[in-house]
Order: sequence, then C-alpha cells, then structure tokens
Amino acid sequence: MPRFDGRILCIGGGHVGGPTMSVIAARCPQYEVTVVDVSADRIRAWQTDDLPIYEPGLLDVVRQARGRNLFFSTDIPAAIDRAEVIFVSVNTPTKTFGEGAGKAPDLQYWEKTARTIVEASRGNKIVVEKSTLPVRTAHAMERILNSNRKGIRFEVLSNPEFLSEGTAVRDLEHPDRVLIGSHETATGLAAREVLVEIYANWVPRERIVTSNVWSAELSKLASNAFLAQRISSINSISALCEKTTADVTEVSRAIGLDSRIGKRFLEASVGFGGSCFKKDILNLVYICESYGLDDVARYWESVVSVNEYQKGRFVHTMVHAMFDTVADKRIALLGFAFKKDTADTRESAALLVARKLIEERAVVVVSDPKALGNARAELADAPAGRVVFEADPYAAARGAHALAVLTEWDAYRSLDYRAMFESMEKPAFLFDGRNILDHQALHAIGFNVFAIGKPALKHF
Ligand code: NAD
Ligand code: UGA
Repeated sequence: MPRFDGRILCIGGGHVGGPTMSVIAARCPQYEVTVVDVSADRIRAWQTDDLPIYEPGLLDVVRQARGRNLFFSTDIPAAIDRAEVIFVSVNTPTKTFGEGAGKAPDLQYWEKTARTIVEASRGNKIVVEKSTLPVRTAHAMERILNSNRKGIRFEVLSNPEFLSEGTAVRDLEHPDRVLIGSHETATGLAAREVLVEIYANWVPRERIVTSNVWSAELSKLASNAFLAQRISSINSISALCEKTTADVTEVSRAIGLDSRIGKRFLEASVGFGGSCFKKDILNLVYICESYGLDDVARYWESVVSVNEYQKGRFVHTMVHAMFDTVADKRIALLGFAFKKDTADTRESAALLVARKLIEERAVVVVSDPKALGNARAELADAPAGRVVFEADPYAAARGAHALAVLTEWDAYRSLDYRAMFESMEKPAFLFDGRNILDHQALHAIGFNVFAIGKPALKHF
C-alpha cells in the first residue's frame, strides 16, 4: 500500500460516524474527512448548526473543521472513489425477520455498503469496521469486497467504537483505548499502521491497542456485555434491598470501594436503555448459540432478562403504591431519553414505563429537556388523550398524582419540588427511577417517595 494520502471517508453519519469524523477532522487538519449518508435530511442537518444529534460540545468541534477539512455529502459513490480509508458506521439493528429474528444483527445495511464500495472503487482501499458487528463479520466482508473483477484489493480492519452518548466528544478526544484489529499479514499490518497513524495524532500511543480482527470484533461485544452485566447485577441487588430494607446506594458504595471491582457502572436504575446494550448482548447470545455454547448463551441472556424484570418491577411498584389503579390518573414522567445529555430515546426504560402506564389507562405526561421530538415519534401510536408532551416540568406536574424520574438530567436535581407538590393531587407520589433526589427532603414536603433499592418513605 503506498503512503496514506489523507483522504478519509465515513459511510453512515449517525451517533458514531458524525462525532467520530468531526473529532478526527478537528484534530487532524492535514486530512480531508468526508461523511456520507443515505439520509439526505441527516446530511443537510450536519451542514447547519442544528445538528441531527445532540451531544454536548459537538457543535464547537464541527464548527472548527466544517468546510475546512470536514465535508458532508450524499454523493456516496464519488466519495468512495476519492477516499483511501473508508470507515463504515452504518446501523446494525437486531434482525426482525427470518433466521435469528429478535437476536441476530441485521447486516443488510453493512452488506449493501460493502457492495456499493466495490462498485464505486477504482483503486485499493482500507475498509474499517466502525459499526459493532458479530465476530467474524470481516471474513464475509472480505469475501464480498475482494471477489471483485477489477483487481482491486481491500484490506478490512476492525476498529470498534467505545464512545457513550452524552459524553461522545470527551470519549473521542480522550479515549481509554483505541482498538485496531487486523490480519497479521504484510498488507494487514500495513493497513493497521495507517489507522494507528491517524489516531496517534491525538491519542497517546500506549492507548492504541492492536489485536487480530476477531479479537477486536469480539472485544466490542464483550465490553458492552460486561458493562450491562454490572448494571443488571446491581439492579438485581436493588430488588433484594427493597425486601430487606438495605439501601442499594450504600451497598453499591461498599462494593465499589474494592479496587478489584471499582465504583463505576454500579448505579441502580429503572433499567438500562440505549440502542446498543440489548442489541449487542442478544447478538452475543446468538453467536454462542450458533456455536452450541448454550450455557454461555443463557448466562448473557440473563443480563437482558434482569433488565426487563427491573423495568417491569418499577411500573408494578408505581401501580401497586397508587392503590392498585392508575386509571385516568395523571402521571408525569420526568425524562424520556435513555440517559442524560442526549436526545436519544432508543430502548429507553421510559418507553416501557409509558407504554405500561398507558395500558393501565393512565394519562401520561412526558417531559424532557431534549428528547420530546423522539418521544413523540416513539409514542405516535398511543391512544388519543393518553399521552401529553410538556417541556416544562412544572406544567407537567400540575394536577398529577405522581412524578416519576426516569432520566438523570442534572436539572431535575434542583427543581422546586415543594411548588410541584403544592400543584399536585393528593396523596402525591414520587418514584425516583434514578436515585438522584433527596428522598428525606421530599418526604418532609409531603410526597410518598419510592426509590430504587431503598425503603419506601410513606405517610400512610
Ligand atoms: P445511527 O442509526 O445513529 O446512524 C447510522 C447511520 O447510517 C444513519 O444515519 C443511516 O441513515 C446510515 N446508513 C444506513 N445504511 C446506510 C448506507 N447503506 N449508506 C450510507 N448510510 C447508511 O447509528 P449509530 O448509533 O451511529 O450506530 C452505528 C453503529 O455503531 C452500530 O453498529 C452501533 O452498534 C455502533 N455503536 C454505536 C454507539 C452509540 O453510542 N450510538 C457507540 C458505539 C458503537
Ligand atoms: C454504551 C457503552 O457505555 C459505550 O462504551 C458503548 O460504546 C456504547 O454503549 C455502544 O456500543 O453503543 P451508551 O449506551 O451510550 O454507551 O451509554 P451508557 O453510559 O453506557 O448507558 C447505557 C444505559 O445504562 C443508560 O440507560 C444508563 O442510564 C444506564 N446505566 C449506566 C445505569 O442504569 N447505571 C449505571 O451505573 C450506568
């Protein structure tokens, strides 16, 4: 492979492709970075200051590079032909049809992209798997790419992304590690070196880790599975805390102080959400099953089933506490995004809570500082009159029987809960699905307070 000419392309300008390429372009003015997407709306939005995704700090990064060495386009074939390094960051949702439905990833977008790359290319290229893919996907991709009759050689690398939404810019600028998987062949190692050089512009060399392709692919799935497993572990303990009057925050602190365990990702909650944890674990489960590793599959599957249990348990607590009926009661949901600092509502626990409450014939008032647009789309099929959208949390609380905190937005920590209490029906309930509020103070105001993994504070 000749010297890298600095022309980088990313196919898929979503939550990963957009921020990742923006940071590369901002940090490496010597490169020309282009992002393409099949969605013309998304590309248009990237060209304005009303970006298609909300990420703190992202607009500043985009503005540094846009028009200088960062470009957004819908002309996919032209951009492919021009680039030497092509990141592929298209979505890989769970398959909804055919073999593996409900577990296996739907690789149609990936395969279509590979075929488009073959058609549009006139020279050798490095194709980088940025999307999260099942282990050994690179094998299939190489076959599709390298069965071309043009004599073009494609080298496939695995470079999974570990950013979290809400902290994407920080995670990309200061990653714990960058993982690059390649073949141990001469061309594989040369391609790997190109990618190492790109990241080395701002990532310390010791944080750029290399491995074989299959280890890199599997490390991404395993990493998400381990993170989610910690949440399900502490959430399972939260259920036991509620039965025994232990306090999950105290238990979590005590566990996390063991340096072998560490304190992060031990916050009990209404359940994890987001587009990836469930999808990636089910993908891992499917792979294990396909290799006949049923016990391993069941182990990881339980991480997802405990999460479903936790979400269901939260709604059950709400309905049961409110005298076993919420029919026609107004219930304000504070937060709909799957975590703070994002507008993303994919797989948010709030979705299940809202749907279950609607089934119970409650009137659900959805409030969120950033995610109301996505919440509206997610709940578009709700029966008329059962869902109200209200950006202002005080207006959402007015006349409500209960508040339920479902996203840990910082703003929710300092609301005037006394004023909200005054405007609510009595008895007033507060369900803290994130354990972010001062429960004793809320109880003193007059709320009946139910938190995760803590004794309920009631007035009756
Ligand atoms: P996304 O849905 O936000 O973005 C994917 C984009 O790809 C969309 O804009 C879509 O229009 C585009 N696309 C689909 N098919 C295309 C095609 N054939 N040509 C051009 N564009 C196409 O998804 P995302 O959240 O960015 O996730 C992408 C991948 O990265 C997934 O595999 C995901 O598991 C992984 N990942 C996501 C995160 C995250 O925080 N969201 C973090 C790490 C890894
Ligand atoms: C997660 C991983 O953290 C990233 O490393 C990974 O790149 C990404 O998935 C991916 O592959 O998509 P993300 O889903 O954006 O990132 O956000 P997280 O911070 O991991 O939170 C996931 C969910 O777990 C959220 O609903 C969050 O509220 C919940 N959570 C997190 C808890 O309930 N308790 C915790 O202690 C931590």
